[in-house]
Amino acid sequence: GVTSFMRVTPSMLKQHNGRKGRPAWSSWQGKVYNITPYLPYHPGGEGELRRAAGKNGEKLFMEVHPWVNWENMLGECLVGIMVGEHENRS
Ligand code: HEM
Repeated sequence: GVTSFMRVTPSMLKQHNGRKGRPAWSSWQGKVYNITPYLPYHPGGEGELRRAAGKNGEKLFMEVHPWVNWENMLGECLVGIMVGEHENRS
């Protein structure tokens, strides 16, 4: 099917930090994923995964488990691609 992806700016990513009922998003290689549904299932615990919320999760992720395939696990949770701060307008 046809899928469209959001253009996510750094400030939008920051807002989706999983706090105050907001969804938790995290970016990986220029792509943005909604990690909220995975929080209860993360083998390292919800708290650890939450550290990647609202930001680029690559560094934390690679420090802990570079062998885990982020894309395979969270592919269905892809919400969009990172763009520059003012590049989300059409
Ligand atoms: C374990 C997935 C992010 C910390 C695991 C495991 C998976 C996983 C599959 C089990 C790995 C294994 O046993 O070989 C993910 C995914 C992430 C993510 C898909 C995407 C966002 C993070 C982050 C942190 C973290 C950001 C830390 C800040 C840990 C820790 C374990 C773990 C400490 C080890 C748990 C244990 O063995 O007791 N994660 N993780 N993870 N994860 Fe993550």
